[in-house]
Amino acid sequence: MRIITAKNYEDMSRKAANIISAQIIMNPKCVLGLATGSTPMGAYKQLVDWYNKDDLDFSMVRTVNLDEYKGLDANHEQSYRHFMDSHLFSHVNMNPDHVNIPNGIAADSRLECQRYDDVIAGLGGIDLQVLGIGLNGHIAFNEPDIAFEKKTHLVTLTQSTIAANSRLFNDISEVPTSAYTMGIKNIVQAKMILLIVSGEEKADIMYEAFCGPVTPAVPASILQMHNQVIIVGDAAALAKLSINTTI
Ligand code: GLP
Repeated sequence: MRIITAKNYEDMSRKAANIISAQIIMNPKCVLGLATGSTPMGAYKQLVDWYNKDDLDFSMVRTVNLDEYKGLDANHEQSYRHFMDSHLFSHVNMNPDHVNIPNGIAADSRLECQRYDDVIAGLGGIDLQVLGIGLNGHIAFNEPDIAFEKKTHLVTLTQSTIAANSRLFNDISEVPTSAYTMGIKNIVQAKMILLIVSGEEKADIMYEAFCGPVTPAVPASILQMHNQVIIVGDAAALAKLSINTTI
């Protein structure tokens, strides 16, 4: 596991974008697993900037996003599809046919989960998976649980996640209570994982996830078992990791 400490959010974003862009340059047809949330926004902005400078070409890149709220359609302002369009896809030369995100308004949830697993398998798996981490250790929308869910599934969001994500909605009552998410196996089968983390409020969970036991109670802890994980975090988020040299 490599841990790269950045000075601040901007530095973290540029360092993360460097790793993503290297992947695209080395393999223009790569499969990128992408995340939403405040954390990767700066990295996506940096990628758009490099695209505008003609340094990046997304035309053959394929993407699979981690998750989507159930009940929100692609045009809903808080849907993850809308997030990806507004922060990345609509600013670069992505082929819309190469974009994959769970369908929040699928009629049959079970079929939608199966479809999404088939999409990932059909792409031959994920080359680089970008991840953030929730305050309770969730990755994608894999919430703390008594077992690791393997495949794409529908989850009931915890109050902590609903509260954290409510900042982007007009009112907490508008936050969907369930979501589609890739499972832990989908994520850890990625060849390489890039976890981006920022802010002192994430320092405790980063310590639990990477210095504590591997447990579904802290879903991100499973990343300790993956041998191609790069963590790029700002100093505040990594404050408790840097004093531990056992990782
Ligand atoms: C959401 C997303 C996660 C993300 C997490 C943290 O719940 N489903 O993929 O990692 O929030 O978000 P943020 O980066 O805004 O802290």
